Amino acid sequence: MDVVIVGAGSVGLLLGSYLSESGIKVTMVVRREEQASELNKNGIRRVNEDGSESFLGVHATTIIPTDNASSVWIIAVKYIDLQKLLIQLDSLEIKNPMLFIQNGLDHYSMANATSIPHLAFATVEHGARRLDDNTVQHNGVGLVTIGAGRGDSTLFDIVENAHSKSFPVTRHVDAEFVLMRKVLINCMINPLTAILEVENGGLLTNPSCHELFVTLYDELINAFPEMKPHLSLEAVSAVCQNTAHNKSSMLSDRLAGRPMEIKTIITAVIEKAHALHKNVPLLAMLEKMLFAIESKGEQL
Ligand code: PAF
Repeated sequence: MDVVIVGAGSVGLLLGSYLSESGIKVTMVVRREEQASELNKNGIRRVNEDGSESFLGVHATTIIPTDNASSVWIIAVKYIDLQKLLIQLDSLEIKNPMLFIQNGLDHYSMANATSIPHLAFATVEHGARRLDDNTVQHNGVGLVTIGAGRGDSTLFDIVENAHSKSFPVTRHVDAEFVLMRKVLINCMINPLTAILEVENGGLLTNPSCHELFVTLYDELINAFPEMKPHLSLEAVSAVCQNTAHNKSSMLSDRLAGRPMEIKTIITAVIEKAHALHKNVPLLAMLEKMLFAIESKGEQL
């Protein structure tokens, strides 16, 4: 069995590199011909944490493959591009097992509304930065957690089998739990790093950033106390520490003038808290600040 990865941003390239390294045949589906030919010519160049470089061969195409019935697909496009992609996959009648790796919560119902029989959702805690069309910088090792969705979850063993020290992969029986835990981590890290323009490590080293980070942690854990045993302050701090030199996806989006995934990460959590009659005033203020930054249409 081989793997098709749709989307070659930082996380798509990082996953592609590790899956290829583990011996899997990887096909990357990308939007631009230039990126496809660069990947076909030179493979994925991964700059490792110690500065060394790895070159991993992949096949790349701009055309959605329809002749790949036995492959597992990883959907690595940004949330904003997902709806269009799902319509395209549906019209091509593609029913391969699909692993969705978006940040946030909104893609869960979107994917479940499709007729794809085998679905899973993974969270990615790596720090990664795309440097150019075929280069990804691995800025911090984190866990990939695959949460079972519907259908046969053993079909996703191929991804779990690529587990290594630099690419740890684990499984969980409940995708909704996995996504909720990760979105809380993103709510604790991403808005502060994007607004304050600090790398993830800044939330630990800058005293004022750290105070805000701890206040936000307390607010969110009070709103979702059932997550406390699964998400200690130490665990979220460890994500910041492991990805200390990484710009969060929200900060990277801000710096690149892209939409910051505010709705699927932050609004979705605020709505969940409100449904439980819990107030999350700090997160709500950060949401407004991010919307204000986004609507200014800045290009930093
Ligand atoms: O969104 C991100 O940037 C990542 O999920 C994480 C784990 C916070 C690392 O930067």
